[in-house]
Amino acid sequence: MKNQKIVITKIGAPETMQVVDEEIKSPSGSDVLVKILTTGVAFADISIRYGQYPGVPKPPVTPGYDLIGIIEQTGPDVSSFVVGDKVAALTVFGAYSKYISLPASQLVKIPQQIDPIKSEALVLNYVTAYQMLHRVSKVKPKQRVLIHGASGGVGTALMQLGKLMEQDMVGTASQKNHALLKKYGVTPINYRTQDFEEILKNNPVDVVFESIGGKNIQKSLKVLKKGGLLVYYGARSSIQSGKYVNGLMGKSIVESIFYNILPNGKKTTFYAINAKKQIQQFREDLTSLIQLLNEGKIDPVIGATYPLEQAAAANQAMENGDHIGKIVLICN
Ligand SMILES: NC(=O)c1ccc[n+]([C@@H]2O[C@H](COP(=O)([O-])OP(=O)(O)OC[C@H]3O[C@@H](n4cnc5c(N)ncnc54)[C@H](OP(=O)(O)O)[C@@H]3O)[C@@H](O)[C@H]2O)c1
Repeated sequence: MKNQKIVITKIGAPETMQVVDEEIKSPSGSDVLVKILTTGVAFADISIRYGQYPGVPKPPVTPGYDLIGIIEQTGPDVSSFVVGDKVAALTVFGAYSKYISLPASQLVKIPQQIDPIKSEALVLNYVTAYQMLHRVSKVKPKQRVLIHGASGGVGTALMQLGKLMEQDMVGTASQKNHALLKKYGVTPINYRTQDFEEILKNNPVDVVFESIGGKNIQKSLKVLKKGGLLVYYGARSSIQSGKYVNGLMGKSIVESIFYNILPNGKKTTFYAINAKKQIQQFREDLTSLIQLLNEGKIDPVIGATYPLEQAAAANQAMENGDHIGKIVLICN
């Protein structure tokens, strides 16, 4: 049996990604072979392509942070899954592919009837938002929060989950996306033309979800109440004027940790999703989110879908910031 996967052949623009054919090997030991239905386009995929994502091999490498799929074959030592089970996994890389072999211990069984496109958005983006809300900031209902990049993948998840908690939300986004923010009761700020620090300094917030990095972190700190918390989790501003800025992510992480020791009564913390080390929390949180999806309490915004073969176009769309919500690749 043959597999097709996308390989980033060298550091650079989306065109460096190519479709590659390979033989599929039967899974051994406690591995399973998963037929991938959908994978998401994550900003991390772009950082991986520019050779800037810690812990992931440099190109040539296959990106793909998460997946929804069906078990195709099980290794001889697997007892927890059977062929045909629907599963989700946070792979970090490797899921831009039609098939993937993974240790069974990394998989979460999900209901058969669940939509593979909507549920794809839950695996990375909603778990990230959910953990930052419920495990890291422990933000209380009706508190005031600032969501940067509110129109994006994690931002839309934070808005929908925040609305369930009746939070008082402010969000930064381009003007063209303000109607989306208002739909979730979020007061929009156009970061391209307005200074959020000026607007919020006299009406500060309890928690900032900071995904922009660089100079934005210091400004975000200034709009935090005394006793407030800044959760730093991304360097979306690594793309500037169409070019990737190397090192901004690492510098921003160090800066966000350093600000925590300033004697200003404000706290900062760095959040990074980690399903390998915290598989139990990942399972619990994804299960809670699937329940919210089934109950119609959340409805992931899918900005666009592309066939796997068009992964380069999908990556270009994310680099340009053309999208809202999640971009999903259809693999099978
Ligand atoms: N730490 C973790 O575990 C974790 C997990 C998931 C994601 N992340 C990180 O979180 C960040 C966001 O991810 P995402 O998937 O939500 O990305 P995304 O879908 O691209 O959304 C981010 C949005 O931010 C907006 N934006 C871009 N530059 C901005 C700026 N200078 N100021 C304010 N807003 C700006 C854009 O919105 P407009 O189009 O409205 O301008 C963009 O759509 C990325 O850096 C990603 O790597 C981290």
